[in-house]
Amino acid sequence: MKEQKLTTENYKGTRDFYPEDMRLRNYLFSVMKDVAKSYGYEEYDGPMVESLDLYRAKTGEEIVGKQIYNFVDKGDREVAIRPEMTPTVARMVAKKLRDLPRPIRWFSIPNLWRYEQPGHGRLREHWQLNVDMFGVTSQRAELEILSLACDILFAFGAKRNSFKVTISHRSLLDEFLLDGLKVSPNQAHEVSKILDKKNKITEEEYVALVSKTIPNDPTAVSKINLFLAATTETLDQIPGIKEETRNTIQTLFEDLKTIGLDDIVYFDPSVVRGFDYYTGFIFEIFDTSPQNKRSLYGGGRYDNLIGLFSNEELSGIGFGLGDVTLQNFLTAHDLLPDFANDSTVYIPLLDESSFAENQNFARELRKEKIAVEVSLLSQKMGKQLSYAEKKGYRWILLRGEDEIKAGTVTLKDMATRNQWTSSFSEALQKIKEELSK
Ligand code: HAM
Repeated sequence: MKEQKLTTENYKGTRDFYPEDMRLRNYLFSVMKDVAKSYGYEEYDGPMVESLDLYRAKTGEEIVGKQIYNFVDKGDREVAIRPEMTPTVARMVAKKLRDLPRPIRWFSIPNLWRYEQPGHGRLREHWQLNVDMFGVTSQRAELEILSLACDILFAFGAKRNSFKVTISHRSLLDEFLLDGLKVSPNQAHEVSKILDKKNKITEEEYVALVSKTIPNDPTAVSKINLFLAATTETLDQIPGIKEETRNTIQTLFEDLKTIGLDDIVYFDPSVVRGFDYYTGFIFEIFDTSPQNKRSLYGGGRYDNLIGLFSNEELSGIGFGLGDVTLQNFLTAHDLLPDFANDSTVYIPLLDESSFAENQNFARELRKEKIAVEVSLLSQKMGKQLSYAEKKGYRWILLRGEDEIKAGTVTLKDMATRNQWTSSFSEALQKIKEELSK
């Protein structure tokens, strides 16, 4: 009987990162990191497995109930693979609360796991830039976080009209539902969940769900629709909204003008965010091109997470930016550069007797921080050239029969096809000059 072979398929909803994919991923990460660092944020990381309780507290029903990868470990502990980073960062901050200079500005790019139905912009494993600030309650923190978020997209070359930031405030929907529409806390919770998925369901489904949740008020749908259409100017016409909430929102939008973001940010009462920890402003950033409907970023302010671990409260604010949606965004707007191989020089082995000398050349090049691959097999010239070409090498350093006799090398520029025969040190000089251009 024939032996059954193992599948080469990767697990559903995950990606294999081949070298060319890693080049792209490293590029995405390096731009994100550079922008975060340019605002004074420091990188941190945490474990991929945490106690399940960490997420039970405030991560929210959808993730904890349906999407979390959890298991009981060999020591009978209930653990989970992190579906998000916010509980971990809150735990880490709380652990060293007294020692950390405030405000705390941190970022990380963890891989996260959610048992989702994979689709465009949705996978089971994704990487997510998390940028969070702790210890600033003033709205200047909102301004910094939003401007940092936009600057990341600008750093990738995005145009101002290629994305939009939608903002709401946690209190807004609560006040409208509880004090304006006068529904019970349970009904309010259900309506929030319906609004959170409103973009993913049809209008009929939406109406049916709201009517089922609030059966005793036939005008509920139209009242909710009026609320969803509110602008910062018409907020005073929405029942239930407190003056303080209205002022907070209006001030933020005034301030966003002063930092020149007012053409990108939109007040949108339909932003819900399915996490239980948000307490203040909540926001999402969307691609304006219609093929990418999933949010690029999600974030907001959370006042009560640190308090889960400590007697002291410390307000946090931050966002997550996913690599899958970011890549879709950059592709849609034609912003992905061509990624060349990082290696610069290839030294083929044309004659067995050159092996040791080729290694010496390579050592000299590496001392100058020039990446070089040396062939370990002597093969025909054509075969080695086509290998170097496929791998995208910029230069080939040749030492054939003639060069061995003359004590020289031939340097071939694969981009221009020019070549020069000279001493090794002159060739090295040439490469250095070209690289510094
Ligand atoms: P989130 O909205 O769940 O927020 O995720 C943030 C972003 O991560 C989304 O906008 C999306 O780009 C990406 N993302 C989320 N799930 C997936 C998935 N299954 N596949 C691909 N991309 C995905 C949070 O996780 C919050 N903890 C963010 C935060 C940080 N809030 C404050 N600080």
